[in-house]
Amino acid sequence: MRQTKSKLASADAPILEAPYRREALEALVARYGSPLFLIDCNVVRERYGQLSAALPGVELHYALKPLPELGVVRALAAVGASFDLATSGEVALVKAAGIPAERCIHTHPIKRDSEIRDALRYGVRTFVVDNEDEIGKFVKHRTRAELLLRISFRNPTAAADLSKKFGCTPGDAPQLLALAGRLGLKVRGLSFHVGSQVADAAAHASAVDACSAILAAGRQTGQHPLDVLDIGGGFPTYLDGSEGEKIHAFCAPIRAALARLPAGIRVIAEPGRFLVGAAGTCLTSVVGRARREGRWWYYLDDGVYGTFSGQIFDAVRYPIDSLKTEGERTPATLTGPTCDSIDVIREGLLLPELEAGDVLVGRMMGAYTTACATDFNFVPRARVLTVNP
Ligand SMILES: Cc1ncc(COP(=O)(O)O)c(C=O)c1O
Repeated sequence: MRQTKSKLASADAPILEAPYRREALEALVARYGSPLFLIDCNVVRERYGQLSAALPGVELHYALKPLPELGVVRALAAVGASFDLATSGEVALVKAAGIPAERCIHTHPIKRDSEIRDALRYGVRTFVVDNEDEIGKFVKHRTRAELLLRISFRNPTAAADLSKKFGCTPGDAPQLLALAGRLGLKVRGLSFHVGSQVADAAAHASAVDACSAILAAGRQTGQHPLDVLDIGGGFPTYLDGSEGEKIHAFCAPIRAALARLPAGIRVIAEPGRFLVGAAGTCLTSVVGRARREGRWWYYLDDGVYGTFSGQIFDAVRYPIDSLKTEGERTPATLTGPTCDSIDVIREGLLLPELEAGDVLVGRMMGAYTTACATDFNFVPRARVLTVNP
């Protein structure tokens, strides 16, 4: 399991009022050091409530991958969330959080037998497959596992088209269902993921309609229960944090499509970034500076190999500013601590003149940031601090 370093026990976790005041952030850096990564559980709970209201009747399984943190799992469990796991490390994390296995599904379409066994040993019963070989892996587990068949719906407009790498075509579904039936496996339903950070929910809605037809046809064979539809993740965040107020309108086409499903289908979603994107704040300090070609270059203790890795892996440019506000702002360059020249966070950012020790704050950094951070150059990762547990 990827362990975040220096995680605080929740009993020690600070209570912070949002929006955070400069003095509060400076006090945290003085106390805990820099770089620091704050996760605000109040925001996570708020987003969970907003998405639940936007998708009534849909079981929300938090996809751990964007922010696999104990504090987040505990906060979400306390408000009724379920969980979407993809690796044995994620199984270990929910286990550590004391989450009952019945509240978890395993959705990685391609996995080792050891990972299937780890999840089964924990008590997970629902797994995802998308091809013949993967179906075959479950023959020996058929008395304990039931399957969701993942269908691909390509969506080039998504920031990450997750139907390119995974999923069978809708046309392949009948023969895969038949194969599973012949092998004595129970297919509980279908799943899809129309891509992460989608522009609108049209792709979700048409995928629901297409799955509805596959479910109806599949049910006629009587081989499988086919009473579950997992509509994946993809619910977007916005850099101004407005996703909470926009999510109800965003989900309108999904609600309409779900209303067209035959009665008795249990619907699951696997939201990731929507629940945690706004909850993450990065605090990083100036280590040194240099004047190059008439501009300040500030060398920070966090960068694109660390918490800002989402700029590379997720193509997001997070809002970043200095805590210091006094003084004339001029265009400056922010770089990370490694020796690599791609480790540049931002160029031409208007900043007051900074010096070593001054703190910068990156916002909207909860999803796919610290989760993707590396140890390149042996630069220590940001310390993770859960606030408002
Ligand atoms: C199977 C699966 N479910 C859920 C998610 C979460 O997606 P998002 O963060 O876009 O909500 C992902 C992201 O990669 C995924 O692969």
